[in-house]
Amino acid sequence: MKKENSILTDSFGREHNYLRISLTERCNLRCTYCMPADGIALSPKSHIMTYEEIYAIAKEFVAKGVTKIRLTGGEPLVRKDAASIMEKLATLPVELAITTNGVIVDKFMETFKKCGIKAINISLDSLDAIKNKTITRRDYFTKVYDNIEMLAKEGFQIKVNCVLIKGFNDDEIIDFIELTKERPLQIRFIEFMPFDGNKWNMDKLVSLEDILKQVYAHYDASSFVRLDGKPNDTAKNYGIKGYKGTFAVIGSVTNPFCDSCNRIRLTANGQLKNCLFSTSESDLLTPLRNGKSIASIIEKTVGSKQKIRNGMDTIEKFKNSDAHGKNRSMIAIGG
Ligand code: 5AD
Ligand code: SF4
Repeated sequence: MKKENSILTDSFGREHNYLRISLTERCNLRCTYCMPADGIALSPKSHIMTYEEIYAIAKEFVAKGVTKIRLTGGEPLVRKDAASIMEKLATLPVELAITTNGVIVDKFMETFKKCGIKAINISLDSLDAIKNKTITRRDYFTKVYDNIEMLAKEGFQIKVNCVLIKGFNDDEIIDFIELTKERPLQIRFIEFMPFDGNKWNMDKLVSLEDILKQVYAHYDASSFVRLDGKPNDTAKNYGIKGYKGTFAVIGSVTNPFCDSCNRIRLTANGQLKNCLFSTSESDLLTPLRNGKSIASIIEKTVGSKQKIRNGMDTIEKFKNSDAHGKNRSMIAIGG
């Protein structure tokens, strides 16, 4: 049942209290699974939300019930006013978090502390510098690795996002899990998902099942434990007994978690997406600029959210759909 008063509750009763805001479409890496080789057409600067507009939209969402905001990109920290945006959003009564590629996080430690940002998700897809360079098309492995170590030592809650691609980095699953032996990190293996221009196909998928097979083969059954998750977790959580950290699998392809989805996404050019896979978007920025109310647009967008993956409710539909080409590239959504 739709909750009275809440424009953030959809027709399936899901309450959207988690807003993800992309600050920019730009990035200092070029990950192959995220963007096409020749880049994407960037929105003109005048179409990108300003600091004030981001705050105004965020404030509206918080007034309607959002309790968590995650900043994403592109790479959110390459935006020149990223620190000011974090400081401004930190004045709202929300949990603030960020997803970053980690290349320049060291420059933002003080801002994170000042803004109460404790949860930081950092992408790292290989523990091998050369493979890293192949996937990110840039050479920052050591920098990112050192930054992860540094932030963890400083007490930040670090989740390491690792997108697995068959034949490329699926031989590193155990190495990644072994990182959690001495470090309080959470490694999150993410099933490779299709987006515009990322050359996805099912053969490249390393599934939750594939991952667990490797884990069972390597660890003693008695030392491998399934951990309870939080209600809206996208991940299935696991740990090895005695290890300081944990690991998780985000099985968006083989095990969608749409039932408990509480996420809504705002792109850097002010478009609201009710699903990672949505092919339609609602413009919040133009009405905001024209001094109009955005509440009814938010309500309509949330209300039209489909039950599973924008209608791709079976793996067949997901595989065969040409819908991915009508979606954005991941770099312009933000994850
Ligand atoms: N499949 C799965 N995860 C992806 N990410 C980016 N592109 C994809 C994809 N095609 C993840 C990265 C990054 C986060 C923002 O989204 O791991 O950390
Ligand atoms: Fe940049 Fe992240 Fe996309 Fe890599 S996955 S290109 S770091 S936005």
